[in-house]
Amino acid sequence: SQIQTIEAKKVAKAKNMAFSFDIDGVLVHGDLPIPQGKRALQILNGDNELGIKIPHIFLTNGSGKPEQARCAQLSKILQNPISTDQFIQSHTPMSALASYYDSVLVVGGVGYRCREVAEQYGFRDVIVPNDIVAWDPTIAPYREFTEYEKAMSRPRDFSKHNINAILVFSDSRDYATDIQIIMDLLLSENGRLKTKAKDPVSQRIPIYFSQGDLLCPTEHWQPRLSQGAFRVGLEAMYKALTGVDLERVVYGKPELATYKYADEVMASWMEQIHGEEKLPENIYMVGDNPASDIIGGNMYGWNTCLVRTGVFQGGENDENNPANFGVFPTVLEAVQAALRKE
Ligand code: G3P
Ligand code: MG
Repeated sequence: SQIQTIEAKKVAKAKNMAFSFDIDGVLVHGDLPIPQGKRALQILNGDNELGIKIPHIFLTNGSGKPEQARCAQLSKILQNPISTDQFIQSHTPMSALASYYDSVLVVGGVGYRCREVAEQYGFRDVIVPNDIVAWDPTIAPYREFTEYEKAMSRPRDFSKHNINAILVFSDSRDYATDIQIIMDLLLSENGRLKTKAKDPVSQRIPIYFSQGDLLCPTEHWQPRLSQGAFRVGLEAMYKALTGVDLERVVYGKPELATYKYADEVMASWMEQIHGEEKLPENIYMVGDNPASDIIGGNMYGWNTCLVRTGVFQGGENDENNPANFGVFPTVLEAVQAALRKE
């Protein structure tokens, strides 16, 4: 019975813990799995000493695809089931904005996918930059517009239509066109193209960014520029043109709102796994980017684990935002250390 008591204690402790995983640079590099990630997920999905499932959610600054499609793709790459109920992309919490704005410009991502994402979130009138180029190609002087793009666009007379907000959902595929159109809208009278505001601040429509990472780890040997770098460029141009700072809202890690949203997802996922909607006491965040995953997790009271498979390539720990639980070669060692501790 002593063995039974020890076992029961272990189970109780295991039920009071959970993980929050970053994706890029922790579990995958682009479309390739990080092999230790696969194993780490198998362990949490029940292949462990206690034979129980350890709840885990995915909190990524990634973007550009509907949640359903991205989860299906990741489940295949990582050979472990990933449900949309345990999955938060950078733009997922932005669905709440759908009730505030009638007409939005959605920027970024491949083709017209972000229009699809926004429509799934409930936005009623979703405009993408290509709709505007199709209406008036001179707006983007260097843009070459293909027949396919023309066919897929939904032009209308945007000089007779107010756009109420700009939502940057994902990485721009054409900085020149996107920055030009965003700037035209920011400088317009209440989001009406071919007008110019008398006052750049009071008549300016709001702009939101889904995340602020400067860099993103990929298959390339050095991380690539990400949405944060695009934003910094846009802000500098706006300031140079108007003399005033661009007010903006940024979602994603390490913003507080995103961690609060993660708590809600975590609590309802706990219910699916353990039958009780309650936040575990010990949450372990595994990330590769000190300036996003680790600083955010530290501020939010999570146990932070920094891995060496992504953005972080430094020494013993990050100097500015050290991980409080430790630095590990890969996600597998991080998960094993956390399980040992609990
Ligand atoms: O920085 C862009 C994005 O791909 C990062 O994703 O999963 O590392 O938060 P993740
Ligand atoms: Mg990452």
